[in-house]
Order: sequence, then C-alpha cells, then structure tokens
Amino acid sequence: MHRTTQLTLAAALLASFAFAPTAFAGEPNGQDLYKTYCKSCHAAGSAHGEYTPMTLIQDQWERFYKEKYAAKHATAQMPDGRKVLEAITPEMLAKIRKFSVDHAADSEQPMTCGK
Ligand code: HEC
Repeated sequence: MHRTTQLTLAAALLASFAFAPTAFAGEPNGQDLYKTYCKSCHAAGSAHGEYTPMTLIQDQWERFYKEKYAAKHATAQMPDGRKVLEAITPEMLAKIRKFSVDHAADSEQPMTCGK
C-alpha cells in the first residue's frame, strides 16, 4: 500500500472516531423509544390499535408487560424486517415500560407519546 494511501486511511479513521461521540450523544429516553418503535405500529388509525401511555392505567400496563407483550408481539416485525422482540432490547423495553407506566391514564402526568 502507498504511504499516502495509508495516511489518508489513517486520517479517515481518526475522523470517524472523532465524530463517534457526537453520533452517540443523547441516549434515547423512554419517550424517544416509544415514539420510534411502539408508535410505528400503534399510531392513531393503526390496524393493531392505537396505544399511547394514557390509553391504559398503570395496572394494565404492568400486566401487559408481564403477561402479554411477548405473546402479542411474537411474530410482529419492524418495517425494516427485524423481529420486534429482537429489535427492542431488554434495556430499551425497560425504559419504554417506565415511560408508559409513569404517564398512564391514572398517573400524575398522563401523556400521549408526543407529536
Ligand atoms: C411491528 C408492529 C408492532 C410494534 C413495533 C409494536 N406492536 Fe404492539 N401490537 C402489535 C400487534 C400485531 C398486536 C396484536 C394486535 C391484536 O391482538 O390484534 C399488538 C398488540 C399490542 C397491545 C395490546 C395487547 C392486548 O392487550 O391485546 C399493546 C398494549 C401493545 N401492542 C403495545 C405495544 C408497545 C408498548 C410497543 C413498543 C414496546 C409495541 N406494542 C410495539 C404490533 C406491534
């Protein structure tokens, strides 16, 4: 390999490292994840039903995550073809769960998942 090519590659590599922190800055929170993942199938008018945090009360959300989520989404696929149960990792689901329970219909701050 030519020395200039090596230098160019090294510079490109350094540049990509330099940009990485920016790309990962701002860890998505529960609301971001709910909007991106859940809402893609549960927006208003969806054939799968419209669900926002305030659609259910806290007990119903807890029961949903404990007893229904896995079974109801066993075969569901994201628009990019990944299985819902794989695309949404346990860490992501924990954030989504907290967001939906914290903003359920009977919570102190009922919420839809935003615009
Ligand atoms: C790829 C599409 C898809 C995604 C993404 C998705 N769902 Fe679903 N969801 C479904 C389907 C399909 C059903 C089953 C509907 C039925 O039973 O007719 C369902 C059912 C539900 C139900 C109703 C369960 C019941 O009691 O019958 C709730 C609540 C729900 N989803 C919440 C969520 C939440 C929260 C997320 C995000 C973590 C999510 N869904 C992500 C497709 C999806």
